[in-house]
Amino acid sequence: MLIKMFRKYRENQKIRDKYAEIKLLKNDFIYPYFVVNGKKIKNEIKNFYDIYHFSPDAIIKDMEKLINKGINKFLLFGVIQNQYKDEYGRVAYSDTEKNPVINAVKIIKRYFPNVCIITDVCLCSYTKHGHCGIIKNKIVDNNETVNILSKIALLHAQYGVDIIAPSAMMDGQVYKIRQTLDQNGFRKTQIMSYSAKYASNFYGPFRNAAYSKPLFGDRKTYQMDYRNAKQAIEEIKQDIKEGADIVMIKPANLYLDIIYRTKRVFPHKTVAAFQVSGEYMMIKLMIERNLLKEKDSILEALISIKRAGADLIISYFTKDIIKWL
Ligand code: PBG
Ligand code: ZN
Repeated sequence: MLIKMFRKYRENQKIRDKYAEIKLLKNDFIYPYFVVNGKKIKNEIKNFYDIYHFSPDAIIKDMEKLINKGINKFLLFGVIQNQYKDEYGRVAYSDTEKNPVINAVKIIKRYFPNVCIITDVCLCSYTKHGHCGIIKNKIVDNNETVNILSKIALLHAQYGVDIIAPSAMMDGQVYKIRQTLDQNGFRKTQIMSYSAKYASNFYGPFRNAAYSKPLFGDRKTYQMDYRNAKQAIEEIKQDIKEGADIVMIKPANLYLDIIYRTKRVFPHKTVAAFQVSGEYMMIKLMIERNLLKEKDSILEALISIKRAGADLIISYFTKDIIKWL
């Protein structure tokens, strides 16, 4: 029996680096921002370490540092006070000063015309009840919601957003948005669909940050049941048919199998994965308690996502990772 020598590949750091299959690149990353209205705001968010509410002017300052270090893709989430919310999430599709995403996009595009701006398109941060859609007879109405999502998408496109990211998990949302963008001359605006978005328990810090926790019920009638994998492939297949340029899987670290399956079935499609707020905070809390080595554990978590097959990684660790690449 010939014993194969594997340990020679691991002898020291230089050799290990030489044989490493997966390398993270700055280009792989998308950094998320929570945008609020106002000026000079950079407020900490409780239980969401190193993540802030930024006003549009403050984003510019922060973003500049990231751009200088080679990060060129950003995902924006709008956050508004409860008093501006209503049953329809009107602020999300109104072209007014009240709309934080539009305020941010305007100033970002003025300062950094070449960065890639992605906007989350959903209603949960804008509706009083906190659901991702319009409630009719006590349930989230699919088609009514899809119509509104397409209005939000069109408004974003009109201000020069590069990629629209619908995250409501409504059936037909990609089709309707693609159609609306095309009919209005925005053929080049891309769509990154949250195609396989699970009804996960790991969105807690995000909902706290986006003030988007549903007041009643849960999101299980529209987000995916985590017992399903084959259905995720069907969701993704459908979104590709409807016109998604990039498909996203979310969460990432607990759903590496879904990322892997997706890349096997659609090897030529750009696959994004969202390492969500709860996955981020799990690691952050363990680091805080000295149960994890910061750099190495963050690298391990992120490399696992790329190794599974993700082409793009949305991560709150983007600022950390660029220090180490
Ligand atoms: C809203 C949305 C959520 C996330 C991204 N967009 C939360 C939710 O579905 O309640 C989660 C992101 C994270 O946890 O980091 N549709
Ligand atoms: Zn939502």
